[in-house]
Amino acid sequence: MPLQIILGTQWGDEGKGRVVDLFSSRAELVARYNGGDNAGHTVTVGEQTFKLHLIPSGIVHPHTLGILGGGMVVNPLTFFAELDSLRTFDVAAGPERLKISHAAHLITPAHKALDAAQEASRGSDKIGTTGRGIGPAYTDKASRQGLRAGDLLDEAAFLEKLHAHIRAANRVLDRLFQAPVLDVERVSAEYASAALRLRPFLADTGLLVHRALAEGRTVLAEGAQGTLLDLDLGTYPFVTSSATTSGGVFSGLGLGARPVEAVIGVTKAFQTRVGSGPFPTELDGEMAERLRGTGSNPWDEFGTTTGRPRRVGWLDLVLLRYAARVNGLTGLVITKLDVLSGLPELRLCYAYQRGGERWEELPYGPADLDGYAAEYEDLPGWSEDLTGIRRWAELPAAALRYLERIEAAVGVPVRMVSVGPERSQIVER
Ligand code: IMP
Repeated sequence: MPLQIILGTQWGDEGKGRVVDLFSSRAELVARYNGGDNAGHTVTVGEQTFKLHLIPSGIVHPHTLGILGGGMVVNPLTFFAELDSLRTFDVAAGPERLKISHAAHLITPAHKALDAAQEASRGSDKIGTTGRGIGPAYTDKASRQGLRAGDLLDEAAFLEKLHAHIRAANRVLDRLFQAPVLDVERVSAEYASAALRLRPFLADTGLLVHRALAEGRTVLAEGAQGTLLDLDLGTYPFVTSSATTSGGVFSGLGLGARPVEAVIGVTKAFQTRVGSGPFPTELDGEMAERLRGTGSNPWDEFGTTTGRPRRVGWLDLVLLRYAARVNGLTGLVITKLDVLSGLPELRLCYAYQRGGERWEELPYGPADLDGYAAEYEDLPGWSEDLTGIRRWAELPAAALRYLERIEAAVGVPVRMVSVGPERSQIVER
């Protein structure tokens, strides 16, 4: 029963989209299990670049069935906008190819308004959310007052719940945040007309996935965000509100752990982060600009969802070891190795220094990263352009050494590296 899991080991933006694209060429079902349209997955196929936020990236392969699992929060407006954009690229994705779990929660305009008001009220302690309403939607879920996709099946009851939800959000917006309130009638009518169009897509997706696995078909679980943004295991409170790690797959898709065949951790060859929070290996100045790019290419380090420049730094192996542990990784994929070409020297962070002591593991997990200074090992760089390389043996000796050091420090084999944004620019071991 082959369930393959692909997830990010850092703060998101590891280049999972293209790795998922490769694995989904060999899978039959592609499933998202967490998050919503806060994700930004870029897949480049020939001249075309797809940017997907909500729909599983594997959908660009015409043979796949896409699943939006119950662990997700779905904004119907984004869902239909994304379907339209897929259509302009001739990717047909109707209810026959996409299934949304009845248990997924719905993101409404009230959630987005609350997200904005909460962020504004945090002042200098902003989390730097994507503004998509993710936190408020999961808050409603946890406090058992959310709107679920399955609620759409009873239209009259849904409309009643929607009105009550927007009225309740208005009270919070007005009284707690002194923020503008929503026009209940207008917003409900516009939103309901989009939300009700989701009905043909609804299914018990857990059962679909279970049956596919029982028949021996390959299911790919596509993680969004990254390990360090996991609500429980990440750099709290600078995290997202869902379970981004491998544990989230089981509740998020409605499965047990038995079918797992592989847990692949996608790691950029360096470290990046969008939004606030501590970052021990962060770089600034010329080196940061060099790693970030100018923003003129879709693969430069600027947020897919927000366009914000990402913070960049050297690869942090303390955090990568942690990610390998909490996800039970069976393999690593290192992306953007080509970006390091031409740097005379590379640094890998093996441990931290704090209070005169050396720390190879964080004593209280990654939420407590403040005050830890990175301790580096310097490695020689390479000058060769990697973008044309397709065979492992052709990688320069210094690049192989860099990969071997990562592998040895983390204890997980590197299965492949990417050397450019194109589908074909992958070197498998
Ligand atoms: P939220 O998920 O919009 O609530 O944002 C919470 C934190 O997660 C912020 O720091 C965001 O920048 C970050 N975040 C959310 N989604 C992504 C993503 O797909 N890539 C990178 N960072 C993300």
